[in-house]
Amino acid sequence: MPDVFQVLKQDHDEVKAMLAQLEEGPRASAGATAEQLAFRKSAVDKVIIEESKHEAAEQMYFWPAVKQLGPDGQRIAEVGLEQEAEADPVLADLDKLQPDDEGFEARLAVFAAAARAHITYEEANAWPLLRASISADEAEALGDKITRAKKLAPTRPHPHVPAQPGAAKSAGSAVNGRARPTSHGPSGPGDGTDQVQKSPDSARRCAVISCGWQVKTRTSRPSIRLL
Ligand SMILES: [Fe+2]
Ligand SMILES: [Fe+2]
Repeated sequence: MPDVFQVLKQDHDEVKAMLAQLEEGPRASAGATAEQLAFRKSAVDKVIIEESKHEAAEQMYFWPAVKQLGPDGQRIAEVGLEQEAEADPVLADLDKLQPDDEGFEARLAVFAAAARAHITYEEANAWPLLRASISADEAEALGDKITRAKKLAPTRPHPHVPAQPGAAKSAGSAVNGRARPTSHGPSGPGDGTDQVQKSPDSARRCAVISCGWQVKTRTSRPSIRLL
């Protein structure tokens, strides 16, 4: 089973590859055809979807785990969450723009630079700290949680409900069993078995209409603890 670092690394590499492809692709200003621009739009859509799911899963499990690692972990998590929050409105702008709209390429360039810097920050700062603090089994368990969370995570950023670095300060942890999403509205007490689910009436859900992001909290104790 892939561990948390392998799961996140695969996402990072995919996003970087998609951004590199977009930077090489034909642009409206260079005389791209309608078909090429339609492909460019769909490629940006894919980046938005993958990035939104990745960050939502990180906010649910990865950053709470990092925050548990003392003052350094808290500081690193706050910076990382702030970077993610800053990217939300850029992605939201891109989502609304067409490749031949004024501002599309400029916003894409801003996002590409920010995304690369954010990925580098996570890998160079958060990963070494977390890697030194959890066992191989714990890293696999965290990777599994992130993989499962991504499957039902929102596919768009929420410009009006941005990621809130401050919210993570009070959020529990995947490590101690109280992980919850920090960018999807209020959430109640958890016990480490929070699971993203689609439909139970008892599930807490994001307040944003059509988001579909829901978290069901079980009352039983977790069978596996990360730390
Ligand atoms: Fe991130
Ligand atoms: Fe990441």
